[in-house]
Amino acid sequence: MTKDKLLLRALAGETLDVPPVWLMRQAGRYLPEYRATRAKAGDFLILCYTPELAAEVTLQPIRRYGFDAAIMFADILLIPDALGADVWFVTGEGPRLSTITGADGVARLKPADAIHDHLAPVYETLRILRRELPEETALIGFAGAPWTVATYMIAGRGTPDQGPAHELRQSDQATFDALMDRITGATIEYLSAQVDAGAEVLKLFDSWAGSLKGNAFDQYCVAPARKIISALKLRHPDIPIIAFPREAGQRYEGFAKATGADCVALDTAVDLNWAADVVQKDGCVQGNLDPRLMVTGGTALTTETQRIARALGNGPHIFNLGHGITPDADPENVHRLLEAVRGG
Ligand code: CP3
Repeated sequence: MTKDKLLLRALAGETLDVPPVWLMRQAGRYLPEYRATRAKAGDFLILCYTPELAAEVTLQPIRRYGFDAAIMFADILLIPDALGADVWFVTGEGPRLSTITGADGVARLKPADAIHDHLAPVYETLRILRRELPEETALIGFAGAPWTVATYMIAGRGTPDQGPAHELRQSDQATFDALMDRITGATIEYLSAQVDAGAEVLKLFDSWAGSLKGNAFDQYCVAPARKIISALKLRHPDIPIIAFPREAGQRYEGFAKATGADCVALDTAVDLNWAADVVQKDGCVQGNLDPRLMVTGGTALTTETQRIARALGNGPHIFNLGHGITPDADPENVHRLLEAVRGG
């Protein structure tokens, strides 16, 4: 019965007349009802760790728009938090963390399997969502990929070029590798527990994959993804997994095969004809509308949406943006997007 869900059908490799649709960051600041719940929670991490509120903001965009999937409300930086790093969010600026600069920083972290007490509220959020979601809506769990999470744990914040993480991997590879291993192990435990709690699909966000080049891309993006995906498929053979190696460029080619992912999410820069030929031949693809069109709207939004749906329409496709919807997006534009995908 659950296979009737459009998202699961696309992930199983089916070419559909109308692709399933959801949006990265669909629960977020562009929605007034999110801002109200966010204000009630006060602090962003409190919102993430209060199951009733996290479930509520997850459901808001489903009620308003009827997306084909809900992504549980949480953040990729809950893993560092659960491993014992200090994590906090500065409103208007973004995340801040304690930094890891050497072996002692990794030594202070908790073991990979000691995260579950801390993350229990996330699992509870998933259980609530499985009860409350409409039966046609698929539930997505997620985690950050080890490289992206490591960039925040090393620098203590978001960085334009991931410089501190690249410096550490070059100057002290043993420490860097130990950190990557710890995050990889914790991510396997975390995602596996998400499936136990009701997640029907998992997504691995490697937002900073684009700054890894050559061998480093294989070592720190492909290999950890393969390790996480193969461990999860051993425990949960039927769980579909979406990988998002953002800005991977040419390295999107063969990524699904190399990692075992069921679907790769394409960023805005990926050429659609190339992706249809080279990436979609290996399975489902997701993407890749420019989130700026959700701000500007108009006929450009409609034509670009239809162009993407057409270009990727001859194979399994999940319609999404190429990156998260931004706080300045117009909520009305989501209706226009859905009409362009489903109505035409
Ligand atoms: O609706 C959803 O997509 C589910 C929830 C979700 C959030 N973050 C909520 C959030 C998901 C899947 C994420 C993933 C995430 N978090 C990524 C990977 C995807 C990407 O965008 O590249 C990254 C790098 C993070 C780390 C993070 N969290 C940053 C850099 C920031 C600050 C930037 C910003 O947009 O404010 C956050 C905060 C955050 N995570 C917000 C939301 C809704 C906004 C904070 C707020 O409401 O105050």
